[in-house]
Amino acid sequence: MCGIVGYIGTKQAAPIILEGLAKLEYRGYDSAGMAVYDGQKIRIKKSVGRLKVLEELTHGGDLLPGYLGVGHTRWATHGAPTDANSHPHYNEKETIAVVHNGIIENYISLRTKLEGKGYTFVSATDTEVLAHLLDYYYKGNPLEAITKVMHRVEGSYALGVIFAEYPDRIYAVRKASPLIVGQSPEGCFIASDVPAILKYTRTVYFMENLEVACLKDDSLTFYSADEEEIKKESITVDWDAEAAEKGGYEHFMLKEMYEQPKVLEDTLKKCIRNRDICIEELAMTEEDFASIKKIHIVACGSSYHAGVTGKYVIENLARVPVEVDLASEFRYRNPILEEGALVIVISQSGETADSLAAMADMRDKNVKVLALVNVAGSGIARGADYVIYTWAGPEIAVATTKAYSTQLMALYLFAMKLGKIKGALKQQEFEEMLQDLLRLPGQVERLLANTGRIQRFANRYVAARSIFFIGRGIDYAISLEGSLKLKEISYIHSEAYAAGELKHGTISLIEEGTLVVCVCTQPALYQKTISNMVEVKARGAIVLAVTNEENREMEKEADYVIYIPKNNPNFANSLAIIPLQLFGYYVAVEKGCDVDKPRNLAKSVTVE
Ligand code: F6R
Repeated sequence: MCGIVGYIGTKQAAPIILEGLAKLEYRGYDSAGMAVYDGQKIRIKKSVGRLKVLEELTHGGDLLPGYLGVGHTRWATHGAPTDANSHPHYNEKETIAVVHNGIIENYISLRTKLEGKGYTFVSATDTEVLAHLLDYYYKGNPLEAITKVMHRVEGSYALGVIFAEYPDRIYAVRKASPLIVGQSPEGCFIASDVPAILKYTRTVYFMENLEVACLKDDSLTFYSADEEEIKKESITVDWDAEAAEKGGYEHFMLKEMYEQPKVLEDTLKKCIRNRDICIEELAMTEEDFASIKKIHIVACGSSYHAGVTGKYVIENLARVPVEVDLASEFRYRNPILEEGALVIVISQSGETADSLAAMADMRDKNVKVLALVNVAGSGIARGADYVIYTWAGPEIAVATTKAYSTQLMALYLFAMKLGKIKGALKQQEFEEMLQDLLRLPGQVERLLANTGRIQRFANRYVAARSIFFIGRGIDYAISLEGSLKLKEISYIHSEAYAAGELKHGTISLIEEGTLVVCVCTQPALYQKTISNMVEVKARGAIVLAVTNEENREMEKEADYVIYIPKNNPNFANSLAIIPLQLFGYYVAVEKGCDVDKPRNLAKSVTVE
């Protein structure tokens, strides 16, 4: 997804912008550019390709001298990744430059109107419309031009805008795309995300929808879309800048996998007190919990997979019915939401466009929303009625691992708390489960300490064309995530199937030598899953089983077995996912794939 960085202050802007954009690389991008005011005019350099190309083009920023500038990494939506389509975009006189993250939905009609008024377009982007529209409305007052544009455009946008006639300021604007503003003694910053400016400041303002910020080197002013000045409180970000670096691991993904014991422990420590679950930030009373009659979990990708596990666990422990939906489906399916419904939106970034939109729709319908998010101050965290933070810290690798694990933990804690309040979990059972939870970080650590076997196995399947993951119940939820981890980073086709469903069609794809990963951790479903395993083996499949350490007889059925330590079956996902994450990772590394930045993917999917 696109990344924005801007700076105005006492230092040269271009090197700061390049540095900041590098910290946003995790978002995924295909081109990059910068606009810097050099004392006389706004100069733009931009190019398709990695940031390195822009660095070379500008000699590390030296060719764009000046104390005011905006930069951008683009993830193509409207128009192919080309130099012309890269940001920033100018008006024709080159007196206004714009960088944009988001999508302008009515850009075609605006473009037609502007062309009718004589404007010439040089790119296929929706963003260029903004540059010309600003020009059209600009009569000497930048704020007035910006707010007029805000009233005319539909869609989502985070913008950084500079005007050659006002070289003492940057304007920042936001609607439904993330944008933050930072302030330091050496100047002010805009950025799509905190890591971009962490080196310079920890004083950050999270912009709300339809707010405008005017940044000068020594002051910050915020306005509403009606040009009225508004007051905003800053937040002091306490993330460790080191935490955003690789710390000696070959890839961020590997580092983040190894951080899982710690982040699980952090999440637990924050929430368990006096043999009870007390989620500090969760402003839900016991009455609020007691009034929940039905839960709808809404999320995308891996967060959705965590939600599928959540369904099984909440229904098991709290006996409250749960539906799980992909946010992109939920927002358009007109769900039936009765009195007592709670919508849980799960999101690592807190900025996923579909999840945000689903949440906004629920808020409009007066349905209570609980957000499970990793990024404090993100759109979803701010927009929900209640929040539970997952304490994973910044996740840089595009493929989620530690954030997913903390989402599971947050769901377990929520399910147990709800189960206790609803009377479905007795105190003793509840306390035993707390002990089970407390054992999880150490058990994950043991699994991560012993990776040789899975690595050797992964090396053998690098050339596989297609790999299947099967399981029942919670094991099916684990399979969904195991399959996604493998395919998204290794580019090997993979599918997850409910084991009992395989024979209704998909089994025709199993042939001699097809690898089937069979997840078999649920005691109540053990024999049933073994039967499905036997079915695929009879058709020539090679089976890798992931099962509990007491199931030694599995070695008679499967070709390879990976054992996970004993714990409560409701929490099996947290353990079984570890070898599956490692499997995907080692296959991708052996294939030479760009593990941390897989092709076509973005870390934060802020467009629909
Ligand atoms: C896969 C992955 C994605 C995200 C999805 C939702 O490894 O990370 O599938 O889970 O894009 O993102 P968030 O959780 O930020 O809403």
